Amino acid sequence: MKDVYILGIESSCDETSISIVKNGCEEIATTVFTQMDTHAEFGGVVPEIASRMHTESFTLVLEDLLKKSNMNVSDVDAIAVTYAPGLLGSLLVGIEFAKTLSLVYNKPLIAVHHIAGHIFANNLVKKIEYPTLALVVSGGHTELVKMTSDYDFEVIGTTLDDAIGECFDKVARVLDLKYPGGPNIEKYAELGKNNYKLPIPMDNNELNFSYSGLKSAVINLVHNERQRGNEINKEDLASSFQTIAVDEIIRKTELAIKETGIKRLIVAGGVSANKYLRKELETLSNKLNLDLSIPPLKYCTDNATMIACAAYPQYLKQDFTNFELNGKSQEYFFQKKD
Ligand code: KG4
Ligand code: ZN
Repeated sequence: MKDVYILGIESSCDETSISIVKNGCEEIATTVFTQMDTHAEFGGVVPEIASRMHTESFTLVLEDLLKKSNMNVSDVDAIAVTYAPGLLGSLLVGIEFAKTLSLVYNKPLIAVHHIAGHIFANNLVKKIEYPTLALVVSGGHTELVKMTSDYDFEVIGTTLDDAIGECFDKVARVLDLKYPGGPNIEKYAELGKNNYKLPIPMDNNELNFSYSGLKSAVINLVHNERQRGNEINKEDLASSFQTIAVDEIIRKTELAIKETGIKRLIVAGGVSANKYLRKELETLSNKLNLDLSIPPLKYCTDNATMIACAAYPQYLKQDFTNFELNGKSQEYFFQKKD
């Protein structure tokens, strides 16, 4: 079969990224321009600034990518772009850029969901084999999913309230840690001890998750201590929180493996960059003799390579979109696109 080259575009939040990927699993080249330092000054992503910076960066990012890849846009087979979820203005900048390339170079356009990107980044490690369980842990998702083929899913566990990444970010905020919250909690946690007692979320044998209780417990603890004039040991609280939050993921993942009998596990989403989670997943994998895949760190955070990977199965099905493609700030991935 002829090799398929897909140019992927990602701009759903504060990274402007373009990549070229061969056959959905081999990165030819990638360029990621992160706006993180700019937003850090404001304590979080400022949507208006993000879209403006994407507009300014895209042509430069493309120029850089093409230089690295030794390819031209005319050499690729399709253009893929993240259409949801994310900051609407930022998504639209990427979508308009993708439509322009598609029109000028007469290439089919593929609309990719950001979470599909995180999932299919696993193909960069080794081809996903089915059936598999997928653990999706991000700013908007906390899910255990049974996958029987590319784009065939059954959610067997989900959060009933907050997503785990959202919880990391809120806890970081109450501890006055800088943006981005998740990675900073991880840094502080490395220096701390589990000296704070926090409630175990969803202390039962269901596969669902709940993070709002844990989040509220941390917020209340911080407020109470501050009112009493007591210092918070941020390292210890970060460590106590991270341990409980991650251990809950591990416990439910183990339950899901035992319930389904599926011994393959792929991991996806920004929180999979967390070193404590990665270590605990490795331990679980050794204990249960799992076939475990976690994308390399670089592909856990937002990048266009994962978007081009996810677009490949869509390309094979000729699942193309037209120029009416619009961005969606919120769209739950596991509902089928119509
Ligand atoms: O997958 P992602 O891009 O989110 C969505 O697309 O919704 O991941 C972003 C989330 C944020 O909540 C961020 O704080 C979290 O992933 N995150 C981390 C780490 N790196 C990113 N959380 C914990 N530890 C990390 N090292
Ligand atoms: Zn992401």
